[in-house]
Amino acid sequence: MTEGPTTAERAGGPAAFVRLVEAFYARVETDEVLRPMYPEDLEPGKRRLALFLAQYFGAGPVYADERGHPRLRMRHAPFPIDPGAGLRWATHMLAAVAEQDWPDDVVAEVETYVRRATPTLVNRLPTPGPPDRPSGGDGPQR
Ligand code: HEM
Repeated sequence: MTEGPTTAERAGGPAAFVRLVEAFYARVETDEVLRPMYPEDLEPGKRRLALFLAQYFGAGPVYADERGHPRLRMRHAPFPIDPGAGLRWATHMLAAVAEQDWPDDVVAEVETYVRRATPTLVNRLPTPGPPDRPSGGDGPQR
């Protein structure tokens, strides 16, 4: 493999992920499902998400220096993330990515990551309702 600029560098360095996370949190703040999962003070979480993404895309151990190993599934276990919440999260993040002035290949890479990673953080499945009644049998089905 040839060495070249990392995805984080091509995005514009760690500050690019701060801008991404600001655009993402602007959507979380008005989302009636996601907002209650987040603490009142959103700033520490914003900072951690921006550092994590910068690290993931090659900026060096900027998240690990503060937080250690990401252990994202473990860190998300306290939050009731069902598929609907995951879809909202990913939709806001993909919209925030689309707003960034990034090269197309950087956009594609970050989108692919979000699409792959979000389902791994779903930790609740909906409770099934009562089973459907069998059709046919005697009398009309109501
Ligand atoms: C690509 C998917 C995701 C990534 C990469 C991600 C990443 C992160 C990171 C790095 C943190 C900070 C961890 C720490 O050091 O404490 C965090 C916190 C958090 N995440 Fe996620 N997350 C993702 C998906 C989700 C989803 C789907 C939800 C909910 C629907 C969610 C809700 C939260 C909440 C509530 C926090 C706590 C924020 C705070 O303490 O201020 N995340 N996430």
